[in-house]
Amino acid sequence: MTTAKRLGEIADKARDLGVDGAAEKLGVARETVRRAVRYAKAEPGKPVDDQPREKMLERLAAAYSDAEIKALLDDKSKHHDTHRRATVDFSGEWYKFGALSDMHIGSQYTHEDEVAAAIEDCNQEGCEMLLLPGDLTEGMSGRDGHLYELTHAGYSAQRAAAVSVLKAFKGPVKAISGNHDLWYMSKGDAGARIVEDICQMLPDGEYLGEHEGSVYLNGARVDLWHGEDGASYALSYRIQKIIESLEGGTKPNMLIAGHDHKAGYFPNLRNIQAIMAGCLEHQTPWMRRKKLSAFVGFWMIEIKVRDGQIIKVAPEWTSLYGATK
Ligand SMILES: [Fe+2]
Ligand SMILES: [Fe+2]
Repeated sequence: MTTAKRLGEIADKARDLGVDGAAEKLGVARETVRRAVRYAKAEPGKPVDDQPREKMLERLAAAYSDAEIKALLDDKSKHHDTHRRATVDFSGEWYKFGALSDMHIGSQYTHEDEVAAAIEDCNQEGCEMLLLPGDLTEGMSGRDGHLYELTHAGYSAQRAAAVSVLKAFKGPVKAISGNHDLWYMSKGDAGARIVEDICQMLPDGEYLGEHEGSVYLNGARVDLWHGEDGASYALSYRIQKIIESLEGGTKPNMLIAGHDHKAGYFPNLRNIQAIMAGCLEHQTPWMRRKKLSAFVGFWMIEIKVRDGQIIKVAPEWTSLYGATK
């Protein structure tokens, strides 16, 4: 039964029995009956496109309460929250941080003990900050069979697992959301920002937006990037295309890109230090079928900043190949 037809039936019942009587008889809330009555008064059945705009607005106002209209307009799932800017000031010229991408917490192809070991390594090696360029969580795709590839199913379980592993880092954690995290936003218009939630639950977490965000380190701009484009077979193709696409005047000093699960370092692509961030999820059956490899590991990156410019880069890659059971 369509919603319009159901509302029509409720309105008919309200005419016979009154609002309270119809609500009791049909087992629905009184507000539902009132909404059905408003809807019935507002010329149902006429194609929306045939009506002048003023008439449509009148119908909208008649069919919904003010609170309902506000809720529709506030629909978080339609609002994209992109590119926040964080500032970090430090003394001296050298600064070291860890970059851990595509952790996919909740996927059975991510081993949480490896993620924990990577974070402990960053602590031990003196990383002062952790940067996470997206896909912190595996998310829930809704694809047939995906549920059976999860160690943690659902928002709460994946959020708790991510917080549990990340809180071991002894400094600030800054993160953007990737396409997997954003399924909690888009699927069924759920409107939930899991990465923002995770950051708020960490002792020193900061959410930098969807797909993109910046951290200024003594004035040098380091961008995190995720994106949702498909994988390319040529290793460096994607990061070159990302950097080519940046408008003049909007370029960072360093760009750290997640999403394609590949690792690499390219100095000075359009004067940008380009880091392909790798991943902490091992190759999934989907990737194997697509003949896509996973560069499993993480970066510790030391940069020397002078006058807002990155003048030296010491990137150190830790490979987790062979470290699995
Ligand atoms: Fe990913
Ligand atoms: Fe991704």
